Amino acid sequence: TDLYAVVGNPIAHSKSPLIHRLFAEQTDQDLVYEALLIDTEDTTFQFAISDLIARGYKGINITVPFKLDAFELADELSPRAEVAHAVNTFSFEDGKIFGDNTDGIGLVTDIEENANRPFKDQKVLILGAGGAVQGILQPLLEKQPGLVHIANRTAKRAEVLGKRFETLSPITSSDWESIPDETYDIIINGTSASLEGKLPPINSNILGQDSLVYDMMYGAEPTVFMQWAQQHQPSCQTRDGLGMLVGQAAEAFYIWRGVRPQTQSVIDEVRRLIQ
Ligand code: ATR
Repeated sequence: TDLYAVVGNPIAHSKSPLIHRLFAEQTDQDLVYEALLIDTEDTTFQFAISDLIARGYKGINITVPFKLDAFELADELSPRAEVAHAVNTFSFEDGKIFGDNTDGIGLVTDIEENANRPFKDQKVLILGAGGAVQGILQPLLEKQPGLVHIANRTAKRAEVLGKRFETLSPITSSDWESIPDETYDIIINGTSASLEGKLPPINSNILGQDSLVYDMMYGAEPTVFMQWAQQHQPSCQTRDGLGMLVGQAAEAFYIWRGVRPQTQSVIDEVRRLIQ
């Protein structure tokens, strides 16, 4: 039996052990996946990881607040981890730590395959310009959207991100007030405002009848952002970040086991259990 875990702080409510157990059952893989707390009052991130390697763990997922520590600790980085400047997946081989980032591909796959909305030639609006958005831009831009606008409370941060990625695709940026007056096909909320139950103060005329409105957060209830969209444009499609969570886990599972689990059935099962 191979051992895996997710580390973070807090970690008790992590859905990752459940998700990986469902993947293992689905694909008939013999593994155990735990959630482990790293308390930096007692230890360091580096020491905790060395200890897990010594105990024979084959791979580790890293969540808040250690994704940057993981980026710094890795001996080798995948190109996508390099660009995201954050690591959420370690695999241990030949005494080396390989760092990867599966968050972006998790989101892109969830939107393209499960929500059935390919990015190609679509008008995309991204809200937020923090770490979460930085992590998804490269995999998203590789899908050749028609247009991408990044809006953020702090416009400068959106501008810096836009400049960094403009070689991959044309990107514009602004604060909330100056979002170009369009209806967007895919709107992604990557701000942490939902966590506080707050809405980015944007005009509802960006919502089209067929827009996909995606919140990177998830919960037992639709997020405030999804509720806002549904209220102003009842025909739009809304989706929360549970699919992204399961998607990033599926990609980590693939890195470790070489098998790609089917995700929608696992999303449905986790949804049933959190409600
Ligand atoms: P994360 O890892 O979740 O992306 P982060 O890097 O701190 O965390 O970024 C948080 C994002 O949410 C930023 O885009 C932030 O806007 P600023 O760059 O202006 O700080 C945004 N954000 C956080 N709280 C917000 C709020 N109450 N309203 C609007 N945007 C908010």
